[in-house]
Amino acid sequence: MTQRPPSVWRIALDQPPATVSRLHGLLDLRERWRAQQLASPADRRRYIVAHGAARSVLGGLCDCPPGLLAVRREPDGRPRLTAAARPGHPPGGLPDFNLSHTDGWALLGVAWDGCRIGVDVERVREDLDLSGVARRFFQPHEVRLINSSPPTDRPREFFRLWTLKEAFLKAHGRRVGELAEVTGDVPGEPGGPGALRLAPDGTLTATGWEVPAPAGHSAAVAIAGGPATRPMYTAWSEDISTDEAPTARQDRDATDR
Ligand SMILES: CC(C)(COP(=O)(O)OP(=O)(O)OC[C@H]1O[C@@H](n2cnc3c(N)ncnc32)[C@H](O)[C@@H]1OP(=O)(O)O)[C@@H](O)C(=O)NCCC(=O)NCCS
Repeated sequence: MTQRPPSVWRIALDQPPATVSRLHGLLDLRERWRAQQLASPADRRRYIVAHGAARSVLGGLCDCPPGLLAVRREPDGRPRLTAAARPGHPPGGLPDFNLSHTDGWALLGVAWDGCRIGVDVERVREDLDLSGVARRFFQPHEVRLINSSPPTDRPREFFRLWTLKEAFLKAHGRRVGELAEVTGDVPGEPGGPGALRLAPDGTLTATGWEVPAPAGHSAAVAIAGGPATRPMYTAWSEDISTDEAPTARQDRDATDR
């Protein structure tokens, strides 16, 4: 069987009320309960859109009504699909997926054939003590890389490395506290792959890529356990077909970084 390519979906979380209401209808009981627990109406709507859109993409890819997908959490908290509508479907098994959200945006990663995927999107914050945080969470050569960029580019460089390392950890279901242990070759050029590993023994590995992010944000994906295939990238909208080739969108979206 041919390998199915991994994909990354960018989801704008501030959607019209009718869309929020339709997506709410796709959630399972646990997701509805979690949405209900959020105090702020805006956070509640964003949670519903992130999880409803993720279900709509996964349902399309698995040829299954989104509301029938069963999502369970591993002991480490990492969600995974445990069932679609029909036994033995989709052929080749269920995909792995991962979700990340920050203010008005979410990123969904989907990988097949036993690969694990991690995604991370972060707002590029200018108000952090970047060098203090970098010393705590980054390897010395990564701190040097950040410090070698012009001062105005340092926040972006910081979050470029951060999202790559966090995407790696999320692919493996590890804790963000282990960020300092993630090392390797970060992508040197936009769109290029980087080989990441968990130090010191390096038994956990993954390939990471920067992905186009909304203005003022940084985003990355990491894939473990398969060939280093760069994921296709699509901006999610309610009417999108999961069969649509996303390359044209990828080029267009890359321009609004
Ligand atoms: C998972 C973690 C890396 C997420 O970081 P974050 O920057 O706060 O959040 P992001 O928006 O990027 O990702 C959150 C999403 O990742 C997914 N997620 C949750 N736990 C995860 C894990 N262990 N690995 C990968 N993905 C995870 C979920 O889909 C979650 O969104 P949801 O709660 O709305 O479903 C971070 O919270 C962490 O380190 N958690 C520790 C997990 C832990 O210690 N578990 C111990 C067992 S209780």
